[in-house]
Amino acid sequence: MRKRLTITNLKKMKQDRNAISVLTAYDYPSAKLAEEAGIDVILVGDSLGNVVLGYDTTIPVTIDDIVYHTRAVARGAQQTFIVADMPFMTYGIGRESTLRNAAKIMQEGGAQAVKLEGGADIASDVSALVKAGIPVMGHIGLTPQSVHQLGGYKVQGKLDADAERLMNDAKALEEAGAFSIVLELVTEPLATMISEMLTIPIIGIGAGRGCDGQVLVYHDILQYSSPYFEKKFVKTYADIGTTIRNAIQSYVEEVKSGQFPEEAHVFSAQPAAIPALYGGANEGQKDPVNDKKDLPKKGVRLT
Ligand code: KIV
Repeated sequence: MRKRLTITNLKKMKQDRNAISVLTAYDYPSAKLAEEAGIDVILVGDSLGNVVLGYDTTIPVTIDDIVYHTRAVARGAQQTFIVADMPFMTYGIGRESTLRNAAKIMQEGGAQAVKLEGGADIASDVSALVKAGIPVMGHIGLTPQSVHQLGGYKVQGKLDADAERLMNDAKALEEAGAFSIVLELVTEPLATMISEMLTIPIIGIGAGRGCDGQVLVYHDILQYSSPYFEKKFVKTYADIGTTIRNAIQSYVEEVKSGQFPEEAHVFSAQPAAIPALYGGANEGQKDPVNDKKDLPKKGVRLT
């Protein structure tokens, strides 16, 4: 069984040019499958608001949502390094509440690290968390919690001034003690420059090929949504959405046509045992298969 990576291992992977694979997961089966597939890091992203809870943005996601989902992920991926997002307004609003919220995610959720959106503006929070012994992953570029401030989901760092600001943000996060940074929706040349400039791993999403690792959303690489919206930076590895819809459609059709259940799906019982379940009536008096009012009460198992 492989061992859970540490932040030291992740920094070494950058030095060794060993690309870091990160995928989001939000529940027990997604975490277990990701771990079995050999993912390096699982992120319990607040993207759960969009892909699991049906919100338009990540803003409504609460600390309790993150803790609940992280706990399920931690049960499913016991050998994988788990990072969980600090939701909107659970940091940057006072040192004490930032520390308390991060502690809740780690103690109750079981994450090994937290992720915060923002650069130089949240560097002092990052530094306080790190001093308290909490590993922090930064997140700059397109930061979905500020989508209304940014004016939409747009590629960041295209203008010189924005590129310079992002470089300063990345440096500020590294200096504050972040062990890694997610760089979202940034041009490839800028992302490559930032990755080369810093010693901590830069994990890109829509940030091109020059980063030290990549992160994508579970539901995106599997087309596990309806409707599915194509994103330029995502590669689809399976179309699970269509597979699930078709499977459920077949189930509905077979239930309605009587094709399911088949012989193979039913339990038989010794003929003498069935009357006993109906209060000890004489054998042959009742026909529970053909006489529906005589069907066993819920909870009676015929095995
Ligand atoms: O919430 C999330 O899933 C994320 C990734 C997109 C990096 O922050």
